[in-house]
Amino acid sequence: MIVVVEEEPKHREGISALHRVAFGGDGEARLVERLRRDRLVAASLVALADGDVIGHILFSDLAVEVDGRTVRAAALAPMAVRPDRQRQGVGTRLVSAGLSIVQDRGYAAVVVLGHADYYPRFGFSAALARRLAAPFSGDSFMALELIPGALDGASGAVSYPPAFELT
Ligand SMILES: CC(C)(COP(=O)(O)OP(=O)(O)OC[C@H]1O[C@@H](n2cnc3c(N)ncnc32)[C@H](O)[C@@H]1OP(=O)(O)O)[C@@H](O)C(=O)NCCC(=O)NCCS
Repeated sequence: MIVVVEEEPKHREGISALHRVAFGGDGEARLVERLRRDRLVAASLVALADGDVIGHILFSDLAVEVDGRTVRAAALAPMAVRPDRQRQGVGTRLVSAGLSIVQDRGYAAVVVLGHADYYPRFGFSAALARRLAAPFSGDSFMALELIPGALDGASGAVSYPPAFELT
């Protein structure tokens, strides 16, 4: 049985190992450590199978401004499912549970840089993100409003914190 729960300190080693195996490098594991260190974690969930971390998703505080107003937003990154457990719905559970938690915590929007054919099923839209000036562009850069109209406006900007600089 797979359960999805909020991260606890005892899961940290498993989270790092998971990202290393899923991404084939240590950039994402280090990103998680830097976001924790900088106290930017908005929500961090793990999927556990018999106590082992087989999936992880993290949301962190992100500075977003639209037409001069601050939007309380979160970045979705990183996210991974252990290769032998992929395509079994674990990622879907992590995204759905994570979005529900950040919505409950008052976040108005979520931004992701990821697979253009994966995140739209959760409501993420590249068209919505196109208005946001960011270090990224194109179909992989997507946004989702948790409060309808949160990103409405002529132009906006996203500033990623230094924690993202090494990824
Ligand atoms: C992307 C990832 C998190 C998805 O997790 P998952 O548990 O396999 O996803 P689910 O089982 O919930 O969903 C499976 C669906 O996602 C699609 N999918 C899985 N990996 C995908 C990928 N790399 N690109 C596009 N679609 C993908 C599958 O086609 C499947 O779609 P279908 O249901 O229409 O057939 C997982 O494949 C992973 O960890 N990949 C390596 C790390 C990574 O790329 N992380 C995301 C960075 S944005």
